[in-house]
Amino acid sequence: MKTIVDVENLCKNFEDTQVLNNINFKVVEGEFIAIMGQSGSGKSTLLYSISGMDRPTSGNVLFCGKDISKLDDEKMSEVRLMQMGFIFQHSYLLKNLSIRDNIILPGFKSGKLSREQVNQNAEALMVKTGIASVADHDIKMVSGGQLQRAAVCRALINQPDILFGDEPTGALNSSTTREVMDIINAVNTEGTTVIIVTHDAKVAARADRVIFLMDGNIHDELKLGKYDGDEKKKSYREKSLYEWLEKQGF
Ligand SMILES: Nc1ncnc2c1ncn2[C@@H]1O[C@H](COP(=O)(O)OP(=O)(O)OP(=O)(O)O)[C@@H](O)[C@H]1O
Ligand SMILES: [Mg+2]
Repeated sequence: MKTIVDVENLCKNFEDTQVLNNINFKVVEGEFIAIMGQSGSGKSTLLYSISGMDRPTSGNVLFCGKDISKLDDEKMSEVRLMQMGFIFQHSYLLKNLSIRDNIILPGFKSGKLSREQVNQNAEALMVKTGIASVADHDIKMVSGGQLQRAAVCRALINQPDILFGDEPTGALNSSTTREVMDIINAVNTEGTTVIIVTHDAKVAARADRVIFLMDGNIHDELKLGKYDGDEKKKSYREKSLYEWLEKQGF
């Protein structure tokens, strides 16, 4: 199996404070990783450091075999636009554009696919995520769940190798969380690598592997294997994750 992300001796300081303390881990292509840990343990900092949104103080981040930790801003933006997708707690869609135009915009910007292909890809993504009926709506006219699905479509418009999420369901209720996570699991099943930060054990229980951060260190990890949507297996996964989290003092 091919390694897609290889983090070596990653340290991150903010002034005198060390927030990430010599992190090492690998992610293989097609894996789904969840990062958990107390507030302030460094989860977002880790996600931003491995996705090129922020730079490590020291150490290397190899993405598809290439060290991205030393790329200049322009090259890094290109890698992010072409090969990475991002979802956050809030959708950050642009107010004066329709749902469709928000999704299409990074597709036109990257030029990775033809405009025709971008349009087709946007339609297919909106159908898949159940928002085709609101494609032409202003973003003020749709629900929070629909906005977040649109954010998922936007993240996938350039067919990225990897999808990053920082609390992607943090602002959603439990039924909308399930819907968005079903979409993320489906995207992962189709081969896109996924790394998300979450506080929600039900969300993390859908990952292949859960990493627990404590004070900027990887304290432990739990291997769950691929999630297949089976309800019985799902409650077993959740149960073992709850037990494991309890051991971490979470
Ligand atoms: N830009 C920054 N400048 C200074 N300190 C920062 C900065 N970003 C994060 N920190 C500090 O680094 C530590 C880790 O922050 P981080 O946001 O990574 O935590 P987190 O695990 O994502 O927390 P939460 O669950 O609350 O989102 C915190 O102590 C935080 O105050
Ligand atoms: Mg955070």
